[in-house]
Amino acid sequence: MQITYHGHSCLSLVVANERIMIDPFITGNPLSDLTVEDVRVDWLLITHGHGDHIGDMIQLAKNNDAVIIGSAEIATYAQNQGVRAHGMNIGGTYTFPFGKVKMVYAQHSSGYTVDGVTHYMGEAAGYILESEGVTIYHAGDTAYYSDMQLIGEDFSIDCAFLPIGDNYTMGISDAVRAVKSIQAKKVIPIHYNTFEEIKQNPEDFTKRLAGKGYVMRSGETMEV
Ligand code: NI
Ligand code: MN
Repeated sequence: MQITYHGHSCLSLVVANERIMIDPFITGNPLSDLTVEDVRVDWLLITHGHGDHIGDMIQLAKNNDAVIIGSAEIATYAQNQGVRAHGMNIGGTYTFPFGKVKMVYAQHSSGYTVDGVTHYMGEAAGYILESEGVTIYHAGDTAYYSDMQLIGEDFSIDCAFLPIGDNYTMGISDAVRAVKSIQAKKVIPIHYNTFEEIKQNPEDFTKRLAGKGYVMRSGETMEV
């Protein structure tokens, strides 16, 4: 699986001859290395309804005829905008052409504000994706919660993407605790330094992970 980080919580994956993007926040993301027009994508995986995660999903879905995967509420919203979508909910697993996706709990909120009106977008979530023998976990926005232990018990996570920015999500200390629960082989910090309120030094996190932590720069690609 080829994974590229695009700043904030945005990742693009290439696996099983499919192109997937998670939380496609490009417009307004000061850390993004992308332009919306240049992105080619087949599937858009959305963790929750906040603007810094929904991002450019509608435009990208229109440009590429891509399918949006998200909560049932996000899927309905997307379909009402005239694009294709597949709704899921917490605890559910579905096998897509690119691999098997489980939507897992995230301790967070999920509303999307359009023209000053906030729409309910279902529960916030994280995703576990298994494809071609590789398992990754994108936690979305979440606080630490002790049931992360169950993710560690049920899956052998090769690479986990965890928010460390604090203020809106867990900060570094709780993220270190999350790593102990999840027992991922490799851990990448996300959701930091995009805005003033989530400024962090990611090395303060990775140096506490006994060699498992790695800081990806925006635009950097790795093979997992
Ligand atoms: Ni959020
Ligand atoms: Mn966020």
